[in-house]
Amino acid sequence: MDIHADRLLILDFGSQYTQLIARRVREHGVYSEILPCDVDPQRITEFAPKGVILSGGPESTTDAAGWSIPKEVYDLGVPILGICYGMQALAQELGGRVESSHFREFGHADLVIENDESLLAGLSDTGSLSVWMSHGDRVTELPPGFIVIGSSPHAPIAAMANEERRIYGLQFHPEVSHSEGGSEMLAKFAHATCGCGREWTPENIIDGAITQVREQVGDGRVLLGLSGGVDSSVVAALLHKAIGDQLVCVFVDNGLLRLNEGAQVMETFAQNFGVRVIRANSEERFLAALKGEVDPERKRKIIGRTFIEVFEEEAAKLSDVCFLAQGTIYPDVIESAGTASGKAHVIKSHHNVGGLPDDMRMELVEPLRELFKDEVRILGVTLGLPPSMVCRHPFPGPGLGVRILGEVHKPSVDILRRADHIFIEELRNADLYDKVSQAFAVFLPVNSVGVVGDQRRYAPVIALRAVETIDFMTARWAHLPYEFIERVSGRIINEIEDVSRVVYDVSSKPPATIEWE
Ligand code: XMP
Repeated sequence: MDIHADRLLILDFGSQYTQLIARRVREHGVYSEILPCDVDPQRITEFAPKGVILSGGPESTTDAAGWSIPKEVYDLGVPILGICYGMQALAQELGGRVESSHFREFGHADLVIENDESLLAGLSDTGSLSVWMSHGDRVTELPPGFIVIGSSPHAPIAAMANEERRIYGLQFHPEVSHSEGGSEMLAKFAHATCGCGREWTPENIIDGAITQVREQVGDGRVLLGLSGGVDSSVVAALLHKAIGDQLVCVFVDNGLLRLNEGAQVMETFAQNFGVRVIRANSEERFLAALKGEVDPERKRKIIGRTFIEVFEEEAAKLSDVCFLAQGTIYPDVIESAGTASGKAHVIKSHHNVGGLPDDMRMELVEPLRELFKDEVRILGVTLGLPPSMVCRHPFPGPGLGVRILGEVHKPSVDILRRADHIFIEELRNADLYDKVSQAFAVFLPVNSVGVVGDQRRYAPVIALRAVETIDFMTARWAHLPYEFIERVSGRIINEIEDVSRVVYDVSSKPPATIEWE
């Protein structure tokens, strides 16, 4: 079975939601890929999708510089769904009219369903849906052959359809979760309109990846840098299933990991799965390399460079390894508009697993290249990895090295590890762990006075950081309950005698970054 056979093309006009469209379509079991709107049109034809979705975008069709829809999209003769900018571009190019509205509409809007036989049919008992709008322009005249299928107070043509040509336009964003019925609209388009089946399932993805890996590597040996992070963990589980003992993992323990993390990695992979994992205990080497260094970027470089040295040394001890596995995922390789022609193959330059020197001369194996992060997590659980491992918050490659401000000393790492563990344990106990996107403790090397019993304590400070974010580019500090912060603070000060004070970080990004260094 070809799990890619029934596929949709998402043509990207630069919307911040484009990846969300592809993810939603895939959640309905249909493979989808994103191509920039200025891609070499031959690739659109070669991709041969069963339908095309045109994304939103920041441009205006009333502006001469706005992107147009490549003619090849129409030539395919498959159904087309335009969202926001995509709808306006369709309207404009097919003979309708688009105008810049003096009323810019952002946020919720009530969409009245005007036709019960089209894309919006059967999605509401009341005849209306609360949908997410984000537009300045709007369609003011339908192109010939189209009818209005939905309207909103500020956009009388908020949804349009030409059933004969199977071309649809939605002024709002069905892909965002705030749009009522949005996910169903995309499902309807993919299944009923385009006729796609539901082949894109975790089990089928795993079967497909296994076949592909076996074909690629034959009986060759594959090396993987296992970090304990989600992506490399899922690659390890998948490759082990595909090629068993041909996989060798090197786990570089840099001494900057979270409490018990090294032991957990070994237990999950070496003991439970029977994966061949070489653990390189290199704490002393990393700490020696970091000695005297206080600059965050130089610390990152030292940790990255030391990682490569250790990894290379371990790899050199192995004979006849000709493949290097990487946890590259789909968002790492998506091309964006304006860069389509010049963009080369992107290799993840993650501190843990990437940035390996060219002279390692190994062919890359990248079994997650087509997958979004949420798909990687589902695959991990399907492969039998513990959910607590695959649903973990992100953890930076340089680890606790960038969460200890200034110079890194072993006693500070040990204190931070314990404080961080208490914070995370309490988040899990209070059912808050999955409600925040990332949470951790930071070690501040400033002594502050405290009093414990009759004793004066003069010791460092621990800062707690928790954020909510979708893309980690912007983030809001998490409004954790006071009682909860009080409990965590009490535990840290009582259980770790080298801490005098706990503070909570109330800075959002921007201007603050998520990490403190
Ligand atoms: P910032 O601090 O830039 O962090 O707001 C955004 C996200 O990136 C992670 N981060 C890193 N990840 N190596 C990594 O692998 C790094 O050097 C690094 N620095 C920051 C950070 O944890 C957050 O999720």
